Amino acid sequence: HEARIAVVGSNMVDLISYIHRMPGEGETVGAPDFRMGCGGKGANQAVAAARLGSEVVMVTRVGDDVFAETTLKNFEDNRIGTEHVLRTRASSGVAPIFVDPESRNSILIIKGANALLTPQDVEDARDAIARCELIVLQLEIPFETVAAAMALGAELGIPVLLNPAPASPDLDLSRITGVEFLVPNESELELLTGMPVDGLEDIQRAAEVLLAAGIRNVIVTLGARGALWIHEGGRELIDAPAVQAVDTTGAGDAFIGCFATQWVRTRDVAGAIRAGTAYAADSVTRQGTQSSYAWA
Ligand code: RIB
Ligand code: NA
Repeated sequence: HEARIAVVGSNMVDLISYIHRMPGEGETVGAPDFRMGCGGKGANQAVAAARLGSEVVMVTRVGDDVFAETTLKNFEDNRIGTEHVLRTRASSGVAPIFVDPESRNSILIIKGANALLTPQDVEDARDAIARCELIVLQLEIPFETVAAAMALGAELGIPVLLNPAPASPDLDLSRITGVEFLVPNESELELLTGMPVDGLEDIQRAAEVLLAAGIRNVIVTLGARGALWIHEGGRELIDAPAVQAVDTTGAGDAFIGCFATQWVRTRDVAGAIRAGTAYAADSVTRQGTQSSYAWA
């Protein structure tokens, strides 16, 4: 069936410069290429899910500038309703991204309107969210708004997936224990638990702390090595297909959008992780963020 997913989160316009090197202070250097595209962790996850056939409710805020128009049109082009894409007297979120010749990226995030998404905005979308089967969250909006979405999920009996990204030292574990799926990468897991994450044994020990706190499933994304699923019944390492990486920006978001869609359809966690790693691996073979996400 059609998966119905709510994403309460950010949108950004990604300003991607492909550079030879970063300029030093007071220096001006040329760079070979530039590309603008739609990004933001929330929007990326929403777009991946929508391209794979999910019906997505997106709750987010754009500013009152030209980037807002770009983002609104992008949601429409991806068959995501804009009923809960709210206009704000602020700048839109933007992410200047620098990709070097080795495809390593450095990302600046200016949250803009995303910092103004409120718990009331979540409440205003209650009826639309209530029709969804999964609520997907990240940390590029105020934490109180994330908490409101988690509370609404608990009230309505809708499972929540939290991607604790970008990594935040302020994230309080005791406030996220109700989630069905926590999907960190290794550094986010380390920051969240204060435990080392060198190797699978370490990662499992850290994830077990999260399980003990009440989180049902921890899915640690491992980049080219795939993902490790830790749950009460044990652990499972799911490999990613080997590919030639060109640009890994947004690969974690691709994974989540695909995982969410597959899990809602099938309730098969391992199968959904397998689909997610394949989808993310495919995305890193192309430049850009959403521009690299395949359609079904
Ligand atoms: O996860 C990748 C995303 O992080 C980029 O699209 C950028 O906008 C930042 O939010
Ligand atoms: Na990509």
